Formats: sequence, C-alpha cells, structure tokens
Amino acid sequence: MTLEQEEILKGIHDLAREQFVMVLSDECEVVLKDIFAKYRPQSVLEIGSAIGYSSSVMALSSDCVIDTIEKDEERIKRAKELWARLGIEDRIKVYHGDSDVLLPKVIEGKTYDFVFIDAAKSAYKRQLELLLPHIENGGIVLCDDVLYLGLVKGDGYPPHKHRTIVRNMREFLAYVEENERIELQLIEQGNGIAVITVL
Ligand SMILES: C[S@@+](CC[C@H](N)C(=O)[O-])C[C@H]1O[C@@H](n2cnc3c(N)ncnc32)[C@H](O)[C@@H]1O
Repeated sequence: MTLEQEEILKGIHDLAREQFVMVLSDECEVVLKDIFAKYRPQSVLEIGSAIGYSSSVMALSSDCVIDTIEKDEERIKRAKELWARLGIEDRIKVYHGDSDVLLPKVIEGKTYDFVFIDAAKSAYKRQLELLLPHIENGGIVLCDDVLYLGLVKGDGYPPHKHRTIVRNMREFLAYVEENERIELQLIEQGNGIAVITVL
C-alpha cells in the first residue's frame, strides 16, 4: 500500500465514523489484515460493501479479486468513487441488491478462498450454509459482531429489542461449533469476531 493510498483510506475511515456509517471495527481490521498477510487470499466474496472500506483494505492487502454485495445504491456510489481513487476498481465487482436474492446467483459456479460476511446479522447462518460448497478447503470465513453487544454468550434472556438478533447469533454459533467441516476461532474483542476455517 502506498502512502497516498494509506492516507485516502484513513480519511474515509474517519469520515465513516463521523457520519455513523458502519465500517470495519478496528479490532476486525487487525484480524482481517493478519489473515491477508498470512494467506494472501486470491478470490474473495464480501456481503455488505457499505462505502467500500473493507473491500479496499482487502484489495490493498493482496492481489485478490473481490465480489461484493450491497443493497444501498448511494453507498455503492461512494464505494466506486473510493475504489477509483485507490486504483483498485478493476479488481472489485459490486452487485447491487438484497443478498438474500443475489447471493445464490453471484456464487453460482464459483469458489472463494476468503469470505467476509458483514451485512444482515439474521442471515449469517443461512448464508454460511449456502456458501460452504463454494469455499475451498482451507478457505476462511470472517464474521464480525457475532457476540452482539456481549449479549450472545451464555443463555441469558436478552432485552426484548435485541431478542431476535441474539437468538439468530446463538443459532449461528451453535451451527458452526457442531459442523465437522468447520473450525471456529472466536475472538472476544470488539463485538466478537468469528474466524471460520473450512476444512
Ligand atoms: C456493517 S456494513 C458493511 C461494512 C463494510 N463491510 C466495511 O467494513 O467497510 C453493512 C452493510 O450491509 C448492507 N446490507 C444490510 N443488509 C443487506 C442485505 N440484505 N443485502 C445487501 N446488503 C445489505 C448495509 O446496507 C450496510 O451497508
């Protein structure tokens, strides 16, 4: 990454925080960069592009190509501007729409060695199930916010407004822990980061 690219990314990161646009947490960014430094993924899928911050970090950390899905048109516009400024637009293909509808079409006939699931939290389990046949042996799936405000661990009763999300995350983690094709590393930093290796 050049100094100029680093400065552009820092500017976008700070702007996103100011505007309350959810982008990669600092804790998750460290984990993501670590994975990219170790494994240099080549073929990446992201669910939840937002304004293109995490995809930019990934594209600047290996010479990967990225498919990314986002439902918000305005965010896609900002993401495209960012990728163009960074000179990485040729390696990123964005799909506009709801991941529930788009995901099966995007992944058809493709395999990935790294997936970042970072959109609808209620869909994590469903999406991982769908994705598993499309992830190469040794491939990694990264999911942020899996311990959601610290409410997911244990079996306590969460406040009403968080109940569905907590139930979904518990089901997701139980599925991951029970699946023999999967190895889970749960990092209890930030809002909880799941690093899933597909065996
Ligand atoms: C946490 S942000 C993604 C942040 C981004 N990965 C980053 O770190 O720079 C989640 C994004 O997912 C998008 N999203 C949420 N539900 C979605 C869905 N069902 N289909 C497509 N995109 C969705 C939201 O619009 C939002 O921009």
